[in-house]
Amino acid sequence: MQVIKIGVLGLGTVGSGVVRLLRDHQNKISSITGCKLEIKTIMVHDLNKKRDVDLSGIKLTNQVDDLVNDPEIKIVVEVMGTVEIAKDYVERLLNADKHIITANKDLIATYGSELTELARENGCDLFYEASVAGGIPILRTIVNSFAADRIIEVKGIVNGTTNYILTQMSQHQVSFAAALQKAQELGFAEADPTNDIEGIDAAYKMIILTYFAFGMNISLEQVKVNGITRVKLADIQQAKKLGYNIKLLGIAKLINDRVDVSVGPVLVPEDQPLAAVQNENNAVLVTGAAVGETMFYGPGAGELPTANSVLSDIIAVTKDIVLKTTGSRFNDYRRDLKQAQPID
Ligand code: HSE
Repeated sequence: MQVIKIGVLGLGTVGSGVVRLLRDHQNKISSITGCKLEIKTIMVHDLNKKRDVDLSGIKLTNQVDDLVNDPEIKIVVEVMGTVEIAKDYVERLLNADKHIITANKDLIATYGSELTELARENGCDLFYEASVAGGIPILRTIVNSFAADRIIEVKGIVNGTTNYILTQMSQHQVSFAAALQKAQELGFAEADPTNDIEGIDAAYKMIILTYFAFGMNISLEQVKVNGITRVKLADIQQAKKLGYNIKLLGIAKLINDRVDVSVGPVLVPEDQPLAAVQNENNAVLVTGAAVGETMFYGPGAGELPTANSVLSDIIAVTKDIVLKTTGSRFNDYRRDLKQAQPID
């Protein structure tokens, strides 16, 4: 069986989840792709830090060149965060013909077009399903399932940290600061949570959704952004008395062939589905001219949901590699099928 070696940049929450899921589901992934996937090298800042994940057989390095110059490594997963350094590394890796998978919405919202062009020039894939709405496969759904429709609006809750804070404040009267601290402990918030609470993280995700839904490039300056730092417990309680939940919504709307994109706290009537989305969960409503309104719901942050989206990209890239090298698709989904046992 063909073995495909993978490199990883970063071993934080998502990186650890990728290592765990790949180990746990090796056989199933092999039966879907026809390949054995192995993480060969992970780049970390601190080589001596104790890690809560099985790294046997994996080399740790603090040099990106160990991935760039390794011809065995075909796919690199970037889950280290930051923008400029990540861009430099991704460019070097693409120029060394590595396929790239990233969960870095800051990077893609800022340099997505440039990096996509570079990937195309080098015949590489650049996939980033995990960059928007964590565990919800929203980007591939828009590309594949709305290809024959005209999307009119995309709106939703796309930041888990702020939804967690608003839920905790609303349901348990927890203070903003305590709820934020808990979101950090649970691994939902960014290392510096400013982008979460100021709405910038949601804005980056709306920029990526706007590109996928409408084929339009917009910059952060073109998004009207308000965070939740000025939302008080008293506002949430007053809204509740009137039958509303306060939610941080991202909205991208097509108006006369132009797109209007905003992020901000919105009063959502309690009987609407978005009002019921709690804690770190996200939900994205996609409205198509043909299909009408659809809603996609799931965990928007956290180790395993986000890692699952990264793995779905790894599998997609692997299938591309198999197609390019063998000229045919490997599609033996049913190889490991077991006979279902009826429940008594
Ligand atoms: N900080 C982000 C969030 C992580 O809370 O949604 C997932 O992108």
